Amino acid sequence: MAKYIVLLGPPGAGKGTQAQIIAEKYQLVHVSSGDLFRENLKNQTELGKHAQTFMSRGELVPDDVTIAMVRERLARPDCRNGALLDGFPRTPAQASALAEMLKEFNGAVNVVPYICVPAEVLIERLSGRWTCRSNGHVFHEKFNPPAVAGICDLDGSELYQRDDDKAETVKNRIKVYQEQTSPLIDYYRKNGLLVEIDGTKPIEEVTKDMLTAIEDAK
Ligand code: AP5
Repeated sequence: MAKYIVLLGPPGAGKGTQAQIIAEKYQLVHVSSGDLFRENLKNQTELGKHAQTFMSRGELVPDDVTIAMVRERLARPDCRNGALLDGFPRTPAQASALAEMLKEFNGAVNVVPYICVPAEVLIERLSGRWTCRSNGHVFHEKFNPPAVAGICDLDGSELYQRDDDKAETVKNRIKVYQEQTSPLIDYYRKNGLLVEIDGTKPIEEVTKDMLTAIEDAK
């Protein structure tokens, strides 16, 4: 049966940072809904332009659009043995849709590491974040600086600051997370899949705790 890991946590908790490391270690496909929207926007697709109207305000893209996009991605052959989901699901409707689609793909959610970080830390993390233009690799000017400022260590492409990392938009993203996504904490806890991870520790320590959670779930 195919195994899917769902990374849960507020904006800036470190989902993308940890997903990069874990996907590489387990040779798992990293499926980030935010990256899929940004890729669409870069290619100026209708989906990308539509999503941008919500993303720029720090709101969620409507469920039907998001579910269809992720479904299409998970149906591709490279996800046949499972995937690492980052940023999806984000609403109870998305969580139900995921459970249904994984049944079709002969799989199930295996574990849900929930990276806990308080709001004041999130703002500092997002305001210092630099993202790589080619592959979405993430750095932080203070906590995880690239070897050469402005250049991605992994693929040499340009680093940029995301539009939705502006202070006002970040505040709204955190509010939206608390209102619409945090109910998933209880949903996955009741299913026995949730493992709380202290996301305030240094990146390497968070990785260790994540790997323990994943190994214990095997
Ligand atoms: P998305 O791209 O998913 O953004 P997000 O969930 O808000 O998460 P982020 O990417 O901001 O943070 P992260 O947890 O990955 O943190 P990171 O590792 O980068 O979504 C963007 C938008 O797309 C949404 O607002 C919405 O509009 C739309 N969208 C996406 N999915 C959707 C869905 N399912 N439904 C509807 N709409 C959707 O780390 C942050 C920074 O901290 C980095 O600089 C990093 O270097 C640093 N850092 C990481 N870990 C640590 C650590 N332990 N200590 C110190 N610094 C650290």
